[in-house]
Amino acid sequence: MERRQVFLDNAATTPIAPEVVEAMIPIMTDFYGNPSSSHSFGRSVRAQIEYARRSIAKHLNVTPAEIVFTSGGTEADNMAIRCSLKELNIKHAITTDIEHHAVLNTLESICAEYGVKLSKVRIDEKGYVDVSHLDELLANNERSFVSIMHANNEIGNLIDLDEVSELCLKHNAVFHSDTVQTMAHYPFDFSKTKIDFATCSAHKFHGPKGIGFLYINKNLKITSMIIGGGQERGLRAGTENVYGIVGLAKAMDLSYTDVEEHAAHIKGLKHAMLERFQNELPGVSFNGDPKGNSLYTILNVALPPTEKAGMLLFNLDINGIAVSGGSACSSGAGTSSHVLAGIDANPDYPAVRFSFSRYTTKEEIDYAVDCVLEFYNN
Ligand SMILES: Cc1ncc(COP(=O)(O)O)c(C=O)c1O
Repeated sequence: MERRQVFLDNAATTPIAPEVVEAMIPIMTDFYGNPSSSHSFGRSVRAQIEYARRSIAKHLNVTPAEIVFTSGGTEADNMAIRCSLKELNIKHAITTDIEHHAVLNTLESICAEYGVKLSKVRIDEKGYVDVSHLDELLANNERSFVSIMHANNEIGNLIDLDEVSELCLKHNAVFHSDTVQTMAHYPFDFSKTKIDFATCSAHKFHGPKGIGFLYINKNLKITSMIIGGGQERGLRAGTENVYGIVGLAKAMDLSYTDVEEHAAHIKGLKHAMLERFQNELPGVSFNGDPKGNSLYTILNVALPPTEKAGMLLFNLDINGIAVSGGSACSSGAGTSSHVLAGIDANPDYPAVRFSFSRYTTKEEIDYAVDCVLEFYNN
């Protein structure tokens, strides 16, 4: 088999779109004024930021003032959590064991700092959130802050954002969702979905790294987490990452322009890979529920147990294939995964997360499957 370079780790990050690079270059070369300056150099840069904000707000059907630019998903998650626990009279926080560490570690630390009780909603073995348990936790505790991700970044399970947000509304809870894996991959209308905070990171949809935003519902009154300047209407101090902001808006535009077409293409690839593994690799199974309510960009494969498991990711890498791996404990392929442990996945089955983008081709999928089969058959 001829060696290729195949990037199937798009849940970790995506290649930047050429059109995005093109949109960012003039911001670096020509628009160098400080956006806070009142002279013409500054004003023209400020205008670029506000065009970008307006374009993003339009995609989510919100007002531009509800978008606050941050350095990415991690900072946006931190901001939603810290500001809520500090300022919104929160006595209790709810999350799940399978959140991204940007939420899980942050909540654990900030709950301890502010003396807020932390509860975890039950997850079933397929990775679905037990919504009746969430209802119970909300009913039996004082005002809660809820942080549950829209789609899990390792196994792809989706929650019904409307269902969870309605439940939070019923119990007067504040609802944050880490939408990093779904923003610009699924349509959103936050004028209808009663959400308080949502997180975005540009590098998950062919935008630049180090830029994202927090959507903050206009009815919430919070102050900045980062102090030292009046930028972002006083909600995030620091000179703005202008080329990042312009790149983010361009990447979102490109994604949403043909979102259904991209989704259909990627779903087809995921399905093709799933079918090939099912038909050609005895003993294979899948983490999460890939044929159910599942993110179309991710397929987490539980490969059959093998003594060579420790060599699997290395072997794929040697063959030019980039993927992520993890197991329910620290033995097996890759490092341990709190998500796989959270769904009680069998640690004897090496887990490989294949994740796709609109640039992924069927030939790349076939090459990756062929390499895994060769690993098992030799
Ligand atoms: C679900 C989720 N949340 C948050 C993040 C962090 O985003 P960023 O890399 O922009 O800090 C990631 C990225 O890996 C993610 O997948």
